[in-house]
Amino acid sequence: MQPFAIAPSILSANFARLGEEVDNVLAAGADIVHFDVMDNHYVPNLTIGPMVCSALRKHGVTAPIDVHLMVKPVDRMIGDFLEAGASYITFHPEASEHIDRSLQLIKEGGAKAGLVFNPATPLDVLKYVMEKIDMVLLMSVNPGFGGQKFIPNTLDKLREARALIDASGREIRLEIDGGVNPKNIREIAAAGADTFVAGSAIFNQPDYKAVIDQMRAELAR
Ligand code: DX5
Ligand code: ZN
Repeated sequence: MQPFAIAPSILSANFARLGEEVDNVLAAGADIVHFDVMDNHYVPNLTIGPMVCSALRKHGVTAPIDVHLMVKPVDRMIGDFLEAGASYITFHPEASEHIDRSLQLIKEGGAKAGLVFNPATPLDVLKYVMEKIDMVLLMSVNPGFGGQKFIPNTLDKLREARALIDASGREIRLEIDGGVNPKNIREIAAAGADTFVAGSAIFNQPDYKAVIDQMRAELAR
């Protein structure tokens, strides 16, 4: 597994020119496209769904698409996103009636599966499903909106998740989502994250490559 991956959240991209935005951010050095799905039910906001994911694939995007489901119920969306070309599908355990079944649906469909933990959600369920997951995503803001501030106690939780992943001996990505920027990315990596979602920090700047280069320089320091 590549040690560090930068995953721009297209939530902060210009939706009127989404294909071009994704092309530009990949050309700027992004590794993974982070795709935030919100349903105005599990979270108080509404974004994009499987049709947009498949449109990006048709547009020619070959990079991994990391679908972060903030929807309830979860299972119906899994099939739709498998068909739409998702590479990773992650969901919040609170939003699924049957966590193990949802993970199984993702795996059987050929995608990588992950669980997402809100800032105040304990990691307890992880130990029962470690064998089935490829990604642990820790939210460092409350889900629903871009541009929020990183919640500092997520660093302790990252260390906790890192220890669980290492003890499992499995190749599981530890992704962090919310308020990540070039100033705090180094500290976040030191706490154990290897995959960094960043929305506003990248898309609110005119030069995406400059921000991504700055993030990589901080990670290499
Ligand atoms: C929030 C989303 C994030 C969001 C991050 O619910 O899951 O992916 O886009 O945005 P920033 O990086 O601006 O905090
Ligand atoms: Zn997200």
